[in-house]
Amino acid sequence: MSQHDVIIVGSGAAGLTAALALAERRKVLVLAKGSLTGGSTAWAQGGIAAVLDAGDTFEEHIRDTMIAGAGLNRQETVEFVVERAPHAIERLVQLGVPFNTEGPSLHLTREGGHSHRRIVHVNDATGWAVQEALLNAAEKHPNITLKPAQSCIDLITGRHEQRYSSSGRVWGVYALDEVSGKVEAHTARATILATGGAGRVYQYSTAPRGATGDGIAMAWRAGGRVSNMEMMQFHPTCLYNLEVKNFLITEAVRGEGGHLLNPRTGHRFMPDYDERAELAPRDIVARAIDAEIKRDGLDFVHLDISHQPADFVKHHFPNIYEKLLELGIDMTTQPIPVVPAQHYTCGGIVIDLDGRTDLPGLYAAGECTESGLHGANRLASNSLLECFVFGEAAAAHILDHWDAFDQPPPVRGWDESRVTNSDEEVVIQQNWTEIRRCMWNYVGIVRTTKRLERAAHRITMLTAEVEDYYGHFRVSTDLVELRNLLQTAELIVRSALARHESRGLHYTLDYPHTLKVARDTVLVP
Ligand code: FAD
Ligand code: SIN
Repeated sequence: MSQHDVIIVGSGAAGLTAALALAERRKVLVLAKGSLTGGSTAWAQGGIAAVLDAGDTFEEHIRDTMIAGAGLNRQETVEFVVERAPHAIERLVQLGVPFNTEGPSLHLTREGGHSHRRIVHVNDATGWAVQEALLNAAEKHPNITLKPAQSCIDLITGRHEQRYSSSGRVWGVYALDEVSGKVEAHTARATILATGGAGRVYQYSTAPRGATGDGIAMAWRAGGRVSNMEMMQFHPTCLYNLEVKNFLITEAVRGEGGHLLNPRTGHRFMPDYDERAELAPRDIVARAIDAEIKRDGLDFVHLDISHQPADFVKHHFPNIYEKLLELGIDMTTQPIPVVPAQHYTCGGIVIDLDGRTDLPGLYAAGECTESGLHGANRLASNSLLECFVFGEAAAAHILDHWDAFDQPPPVRGWDESRVTNSDEEVVIQQNWTEIRRCMWNYVGIVRTTKRLERAAHRITMLTAEVEDYYGHFRVSTDLVELRNLLQTAELIVRSALARHESRGLHYTLDYPHTLKVARDTVLVP
């Protein structure tokens, strides 16, 4: 057993922001599954939204966020985040993030749903630059211990105390060391979940392999509420390629003038669907592409920016240009084949403005949460921003209330007395594939009650099988992830069935209208 001041699960933008703020006064352990750069943060392309342009205002960023979120956002959260954005960017500049500039100012690009140019970026690979800067700072800090290759399995709560307690208090996590295969209890006065999203619950997703909803499932199992899980965002433009399955083509390509074309007719179709054309919010663009594909039996649509000067395209999108060239596509002269793919988990663990969950001692930040910022559909480039603001807010609350956090009591070790090594790994592979395909086919961009019920039925069967397996065999990362994928899938479907309207990302043919009053879908364990 190891004991710490604060444990953070996740080394992406949210986790490392919290770690750096806490480390000024406390010792912090950061645990991460796989490598320290394995989360979505490192993959972010477009940038970070902040009001920095002379003609732009907080009110307009707030309004754009609420319009994209179809009114389901919590206004006070939106204001809280938007007003802290310029400060967050300044801190990143201090950490050495080399944002693109234009003269003395930061260069601002544009993305769908934004009424102004307001996205700061590092070429078309913003996330990597941010991840690198945060990690460099964390590695240098004497109060931060970074531990990769740790798959956290479950939160340690009162029921794991050596003297059982029903306090609901969270004392840390049980983590599987991916190298030794041993499970260790890590305890702390406060724990922060910053585990990212659950995109891999879908067959096609832009998210990295580890986006399996672990934090959401862990918080739920420990008794925390989750909200708006039906609001799964599909990015309109993921590269269509039979070998490269999840390469995103940033929304900034449309922001800088790219058009969506029907490959059969060459027709620019977005103006037929929305007056904002290619710059409508993502849910609208993704549904329009889905409709074109389904109507004409297409495999993909075209994203075309070849009408812009070649130097302009290469200058703005150097990484995408190179990657596509390797695949035989020259985006300065040819259109790019694209399809929608799952991209972002808008719902998650319910938190307040201090990053507090329902469970004493447990905080959460970033994509694993539902803070009220995104509502029914996240506005582009608002999510890294949310990580910085809530990573900082959670850290500030812990530091300000430090004396109220008790020392963790002795807790029970991980019990492996009744399990053996697996002799049926095939169950895990089979069920991984099955759940992801089931979610893609039945719980995708356009939904029906019948399809959702079918998915619910499948999930119940797969869950029973996996829980049986979990009860008998030693844990592995694949098993931990599969169990969490199924838990997350169940929460998504349950939430989707509970919403009797179409709003933002939840579009169902059985309830095509939007109700007058916007209500969160809150699930209570
Ligand atoms: P992540 O960065 O995903 O980090 C999660 C961390 O948790 C990882 O360290 C992981 O190892 C760890 N973890 C997970 N489960 C466990 C476990 N069981 N045990 C231990 N550790 C665990 N947003 C923007 O605002 N702008 C963009 O331009 C943008 N572009 C994007 C492009 C792509 C391709 C993708 C996929 C997303 C993009 N997003 C963008 C979204 C944004 O990147 C994410 O929402 C954000 O990075 C999430 O950060 P996070 O800190 O919450 O989680
Ligand atoms: C993109 O670059 O299109 C992704 C931006 C985002 O997800 O916010």
